Amino acid sequence: MPTALITGATAGIGAAFARRLASDGFDLVLLARDGERLERAARDLRDTYAISTETLVADLAAEEGIAAAEERCRAGVDLLVNNAGFGHKGTFLNVPVSDETTMLKVHCEAVLRLTHAALPSMLERGRGAVVNVSSVSAFAVRGTYGASKAWVVSFSQGVAQDIAGRSGGRVRVMALCPGFVKTEFHRRAGMDVSGIPEFMWLDKDMVVDAALRDLRRGVQVSVPGAWYKAIVAATRLVPSGVAGRFSSRAGRSYGPRRT
Ligand SMILES: NC(=O)c1ccc[n+]([C@@H]2O[C@H](COP(=O)([O-])OP(=O)(O)OC[C@H]3O[C@@H](n4cnc5c(N)ncnc54)[C@H](OP(=O)(O)O)[C@@H]3O)[C@@H](O)[C@H]2O)c1
Repeated sequence: MPTALITGATAGIGAAFARRLASDGFDLVLLARDGERLERAARDLRDTYAISTETLVADLAAEEGIAAAEERCRAGVDLLVNNAGFGHKGTFLNVPVSDETTMLKVHCEAVLRLTHAALPSMLERGRGAVVNVSSVSAFAVRGTYGASKAWVVSFSQGVAQDIAGRSGGRVRVMALCPGFVKTEFHRRAGMDVSGIPEFMWLDKDMVVDAALRDLRRGVQVSVPGAWYKAIVAATRLVPSGVAGRFSSRAGRSYGPRRT
């Protein structure tokens, strides 16, 4: 059975990846910080889908957590989903600088190191994939969050190009860029998203379906949903200063809907 390692596997998009991959017959390595919740998730998936599960309690904002995850990746996985992430409420100077550097550790350093650890054995076997969860914020100007997600897109495309000649296309690296998805993300960040219109919300299972379909097709940057594909295409046509002014305002107007 192929094995997938998913970071941030207990909630939201990561949990949706876990369910979908379990139903596709993957054995799973589930990673998050909350050990009890991880065990519960692993038990449910084992019981429902008759797969093997491992749990890895690790904080990807800490050196030991990243090192433990790297070690598991080096031992060999067929699919790595670098999904763990979080948001901040507030603009640059309103967020403690330590929270900003923690974000870079989880969104960038952990993604880089786990990708680096997982790829060699995939290339040796001649098959495998890495999905790095970015965001449509990567195409906008939206503080450290958007900047870190833009790095994920650029990094993933660069690595995909670097390995293309070595794997004959059988080892793939893809950035996944969802728009708004109903998960624990906004509540954890203390964001009020009641002003975001319903049509802008994506279903997490739909996001995972689109991601896996794009991965099979060899897409390097996956943007689920027609509406968000159009937004991303539009950001490429508008001068970045204009898009930046609009996006920065939209990104910070998380207040309740005005009536
Ligand atoms: N929701 C959206 O609208 C949206 C849109 C675009 C992109 N994304 C991206 O999608 C990814 C998943 O977000 P989500 O919305 O599914 O969030 P979520 O529901 O809050 O789930 C986050 C998951 O990551 C884990 N996690 C958080 N910090 C971690 C750390 N330091 N080390 C290890 N695990 C950690 C959490 O478990 P523990 O707390 O137990 O560690 C949890 O399993 C993120 O990269 C996010 O930036 C989300």
